[in-house]
Amino acid sequence: MALLELEAISKSYPSSSGAALVVDRVSFTIARGQTLGVVGESGSGKSTVARMVLGLIEPTAGEVRFDGAVVARARGQRLRWIRRRMQPVFQDPYAALNPRMRVEQILTEPFRIHSALAGSEAHLPSGLKAQRERVAELLKSVGLDASALPRYPHEFSGGQRQRINIARALALRPELLVLDEPVSALDVSVGAQIVNLLRTLQREHGMAYLFITHSMPLVRYLADRIVVMQRGRVVEEGEAEALCHAPREQYTRALIAATPQLPV
Ligand SMILES: Nc1ncnc2c1ncn2[C@@H]1O[C@H](COP(=O)(O)OP(=O)(O)O)[C@@H](O)[C@H]1O
Ligand SMILES: [Mg+2]
Repeated sequence: MALLELEAISKSYPSSSGAALVVDRVSFTIARGQTLGVVGESGSGKSTVARMVLGLIEPTAGEVRFDGAVVARARGQRLRWIRRRMQPVFQDPYAALNPRMRVEQILTEPFRIHSALAGSEAHLPSGLKAQRERVAELLKSVGLDASALPRYPHEFSGGQRQRINIARALALRPELLVLDEPVSALDVSVGAQIVNLLRTLQREHGMAYLFITHSMPLVRYLADRIVVMQRGRVVEEGEAEALCHAPREQYTRALIAATPQLPV
């Protein structure tokens, strides 16, 4: 069974002309440890798909299943169990961090939130000493050190803040990261460093990635498979290299032509 399965999910919103269908019967699967790239221009429905995957909004039709469990039907403990195993990283690295929390609090908060959850003990450090060790290990894995612990988010650069977001996402040892334009707000060279960090982390931890971007070179670099979205629909899907070498759709060719090479 695939780790993540999207079966013909749609989302519509009320509009002046009735209903606007912003996601239209999108289907794809992600195997364990695999990276699926979703690429499309702004407004094509990518973030709406990400929010449905994460269970933040419900599909109007269709189903998202994580490890066989229907995300939209999960409640209470079961929803929290899914949320632990599937962590988001969003575009704006500052908005996602509480400005009044020190890095140490930011990184230990997931342990507090999930400590009451039955079944997750194996993933939680037990006791303060183990927690401190886990936090040090998390910081190291994203290229930061203990000097970050007493500091606040505003004291860091955009790239460092995204590293803190990634460290927090890793805290509970998830099986899937949902990355929605994680480097789009960063300078190109800083973004490239984050992309390489994501590759290293995947090698070390074997997580699956749902990687969403408007950049074709980026998905080509990172993804095993690519799904191309246009106006809410999947217009093309395939193995990354094959799709980039021989795109079938004019829209895909335009996306490839629109973005320069990646400086990685
Ligand atoms: N809550 C909402 N209500 C109405 N329309 C929305 C809402 N969220 C997104 N949309 C519309 O859905 C379309 C797709 O948006 P989005 O998923 O953010 O695309 P992308 O992430 O690919 O840029 C856009 O036209 C956007 O205006
Ligand atoms: Mg978006």
